Amino acid sequence: MAVIVRCMVQWSPFQWHAGKGHFDEPDWAIQREPPDTNRAVRMARVTHPMNGLLDAPQWTTSRLGIRDRVYGACLAAIRDGRLPAGCRLPSARQLAVDWHIARNTIDDALSRLHDDGLIVRRVGAGTFVASDVNVVPRIAARHRKPASVGKRALRMASARAAEAARPFAAASIPRPAPFAAGLAALDAFPLATWQRLAARCARTRGTALLGYLPASGYPPLQQAIADHLGGARAIHCAPEQVMIVNSAMQAHDLIARVLAERDDVGWIEDPGYPNLRAVLAMAGIRVVPIPVDAEGVATDRAPVGGAKPTLICVTPSCQHPTGAVMSLARRLALLELARRSQAWIVEDDHQAEFVWSVRPPAPLAALDHDGRTLYVGTFSHTIFPSLRIAYFIVPTALIDVFHAVRRQLDDHTHGFMQAVLADFIAGGHFSAHIRKMRALYGARRDALIDACARHAPNATLGGHASGMHATLAWHAAQLDTAIAARAAREGIRVLPLSRYTTGAARLNGLLLGYTALSERRIASAIARLAPVLGGIDSSRRIRR
Ligand SMILES: Cc1ncc(COP(=O)(O)O)c(C=O)c1O
Repeated sequence: MAVIVRCMVQWSPFQWHAGKGHFDEPDWAIQREPPDTNRAVRMARVTHPMNGLLDAPQWTTSRLGIRDRVYGACLAAIRDGRLPAGCRLPSARQLAVDWHIARNTIDDALSRLHDDGLIVRRVGAGTFVASDVNVVPRIAARHRKPASVGKRALRMASARAAEAARPFAAASIPRPAPFAAGLAALDAFPLATWQRLAARCARTRGTALLGYLPASGYPPLQQAIADHLGGARAIHCAPEQVMIVNSAMQAHDLIARVLAERDDVGWIEDPGYPNLRAVLAMAGIRVVPIPVDAEGVATDRAPVGGAKPTLICVTPSCQHPTGAVMSLARRLALLELARRSQAWIVEDDHQAEFVWSVRPPAPLAALDHDGRTLYVGTFSHTIFPSLRIAYFIVPTALIDVFHAVRRQLDDHTHGFMQAVLADFIAGGHFSAHIRKMRALYGARRDALIDACARHAPNATLGGHASGMHATLAWHAAQLDTAIAARAAREGIRVLPLSRYTTGAARLNGLLLGYTALSERRIASAIARLAPVLGGIDSSRRIRR
């Protein structure tokens, strides 16, 4: 029976008192420490009988609320291995007593740890650290540096990598916070159907999916995509021409590696998708930005006298980020230009399923009679982004070389997921889901237009002719980066449009992804965003 000396930690930052108490067979022994007058270390230390250490939350050195501090103290102990997998935690009642904190505050912290999958509760037995918890050894924790793209780290990287990493120094994972860009309505995804197909796949395909697969893709998926493209996009290709990859950006990377030499010129749209610029630059391509207007990329405004492009990368169905849909005249002119200059067109048809205000002309790949277009599609926006499956259509003569290069890299895309996706498309679920999402996103787009008209009538909403986002601009002088930072403090995630330009286009505005948000959340988020825009003048109207 241990004799317990109990610390009485007062809430006053400068006082520390000790008292005594007795417990019957306590879970935890609490040692008394001498008062510490150092302001930075005003805390009680509680030790676990099984040599584990769970520090009481820091009372005075943190600006977090008490709930967050309790959660943080437990999380830190689990994360750095002081509370190892399977270790029994003290009861909430005990912790409440030890730490002089209300019981419901402890309950709240434990619930969060439970939701995070870090602890498990066993009825009648207690609460335990989950057995599969991802523990970082304590020694490693002490030496771990915060993950960030610091200046020193960038100096150690190659110039190309440093340039690619620059826009993402503060990168974060997109979450369905208003108005994160490019996120599908995941709660509307037919998960039950997907799970059923996955279960059937696992049951019926046996070991067939466990070995190495063809580098170009799982043949039934190639077939399903070729069939889908023929019906939905009037693109007719043989299944062998469909190269399955992990992302549209991997398709761009492979295309650049295979079809361009180092220092060849690649035209990209300005404004355009920053990741594409980075991917091409990393492949050693000299990237030349070409202006975009309401009809899409304006190749007649390309620099005069410059080197001919080897690659011309465009987003004709849904220009990113302006939402412009390329006119038929521009498409035909672009094909002619590619033919004359012997360039390859890389047509990224992302979000082509969501063209709203015009009837889109046929894709370049369908209009091209010279075989100079490589068509890229992704399922990130139409299925779910973590699927990591995209594809591109290669000219027949290049199938072998693409196949060989992919084989040297990561070989192929996840076999099981390819098989499930193949069944999802072939079973008609993909087309049905797209139809459903068109209706849902159309209503959300209307809600965004209405909310902006109501709450931000002086801002200009545009960029919503196609795609899954809109753009918002204002007349006043505030920089979009400053507005985005202020919005972030209100819990609103908006991307500044300036990050999509190389400078020449000088965009100033915000990108608002709306497809993952309910109509109600769209309205309330716009109401919260409107005051952040501040100082906008009243001379602009909302365009429908
Ligand atoms: C033009 C363009 N292509 C592709 C993607 C993303 O595709 P993936 O996730 O397959 O790389 C995006 C994302 O916004 C995009 O803007």
